[in-house]
Formats: sequence, structure tokens, C-alpha cells
Amino acid sequence: MPGPQASKVDDHIKLLPFRIEDCEPAAELYERCFENDALRLKLMPPEKRDATDPFAERRGRTSAFQLALSLPGNHIFKVVDTGRGNKIVGAAGYFAPGGAQWALEDQIQKAGMKVHPSYFDSEMKCIVVRTVEEKRNKVLKGSWDVWELKQLFVDPEYQGRGIGKRLLKRGCELADRDGKRLYTEGVSCSKGLYKKMGYMLEDEAQYPGVVMGNGEPYKTYFMLRQTRRC
Ligand SMILES: CC(C)(COP(=O)(O)OP(=O)(O)OC[C@H]1O[C@@H](n2cnc3c(N)ncnc32)[C@H](O)[C@@H]1OP(=O)(O)O)[C@@H](O)C(=O)NCCC(=O)NCCS
Repeated sequence: MPGPQASKVDDHIKLLPFRIEDCEPAAELYERCFENDALRLKLMPPEKRDATDPFAERRGRTSAFQLALSLPGNHIFKVVDTGRGNKIVGAAGYFAPGGAQWALEDQIQKAGMKVHPSYFDSEMKCIVVRTVEEKRNKVLKGSWDVWELKQLFVDPEYQGRGIGKRLLKRGCELADRDGKRLYTEGVSCSKGLYKKMGYMLEDEAQYPGVVMGNGEPYKTYFMLRQTRRC
């Protein structure tokens, strides 16, 4: 008997591996899912966009997805609506233990790939990277022997139908299969969902001048889910 959540996911919603041709539609979807994300808006202020190059951010994010796909240990999934020509309506990226994903910024530099638009606030990004690295090292005690949920987003039109949970369950299964913990750096709107899936809040970080629409500081939540052996 399927649980109550399973019945919320429609028959035409399918979870599939993410492919290179999915990078651009996923970048477009990401922008819609994080439309009001205070950190994204701080790093790439809409008023500073170059009107002659409106897709600079999307191009950069497409390259970042392509790069993520090329990294060892990536397990990226998409959710499509088969009733709408396999339109991508959600995605989640996981990385196997080893920490290859955390070297991503280094790889971008080495590969000479320009993934950020010209108006990207690099100074703010340095503060974020430093803060996150410090907390990550503290929470994981320098051990990268964890699976990581790197990205999770669901089309606003499809939210609340169990798709996020289904994408998260996939990562929990991978981590449990390997007997490893599952780590993530989440935001306020996903914290509740992660807790429901067994994650514990280990630490949190905030950044100077980054405030959400409700006036509260924007935070990153450092969360860990212990393995559950079958
Ligand atoms: C977070 C997100 C992925 C959730 O996706 P979703 O498909 O709407 O989630 P689901 O429908 O699978 O919800 C699963 C469960 O989590 C609960 N849930 C979802 N968001 C929640 C929240 N903010 N607080 C508490 N519970 C929440 C739902 O009520 C549901 O519980 P139930 O099974 O008891 O009914 C989606 O809201 C999203 O893409 N947000 C914008 C991007 C983002 O912030 N991503 C996370 C980055 S770390």
C-alpha cells in the first residue's frame, strides 16, 4: 500500500537521471525557484543586470550544471511531467563521499570557465565561501566521508505535491545503501522538509547585509542525517 505522500505524486510525474541536455532548462527552472532568494539577489542584483545580455546568469548556471555533471561521484536527478512533453519540474543533485563538489570553485578557475555574469558580486561571494567552508569543516570535522545533497528545487507550479520529498528520498536511499551520513547546506524554506526526512540541524550561518523579504536575516542551515541501516 503506498503511503499518503505517494498518492500525492501524479502518475505522469517521473524521476529520471539528469543529462547534459537538461542543463539549460534546469538553469531556467532554478531562476524561477530562487526568484526571491535573498542571497542570489545580493550576489546578482537585478538592477545591475546588463540589459544587452539578459541571459548571462542563465548561461553561467548552465555551465555550472555541465561542470557538476562532469564531476566524479555526481548523482543528479530530474523530475519530469510526461503529460507536458517531459518538462523538467524539479531536480536534485547528490555527490558521493569524497568532497569533489567542494573543489568546484577551484576547477572553474583552472578550467578558465566564466560562470558568473559581469555584475556578480565577487567580494560577497568570498565572504559566503569563507563562512560556509568554516562551518562545513566544523560540522564535518574535516571528514568528507558523507553523501551531500547539493541542490534541490521544484517548480513553484508543482510544489506541495510530494516531488521534493521524492527527490530527497532518492538521496537518503543512496546514503543508507552505503552506510553514510547525508549532509546538506539548506535554506529556511527547506529546513522543515529536511527535518521531516531525518536531518538534524548542526549549525547555521548568516551574512552581512543579506536579509529576507520578511526582514529576518538570511541563513544557511548546516544539516546532517545519520545513516539508517536496513
Ligand atoms: C523546498 C522545496 C524543494 C520543497 O519541494 P516540494 O515539492 O514543494 O515539497 P513536498 O511537496 O515534497 O513536501 C514534502 C513535505 O515537506 C513539507 N514541507 C515542505 N516545505 C516545508 C517547509 N518550508 N516547512 C515545513 N515543512 C515543509 C510538506 O508539508 C510535506 O510534508 P508532508 O509529507 O507531511 O505533507 C520547494 O519548496 C522549492 O523548490 N523551494 C525553492 C527552492 C529551495 O529553496 N530549495 C531548497 C534549497 S536548500
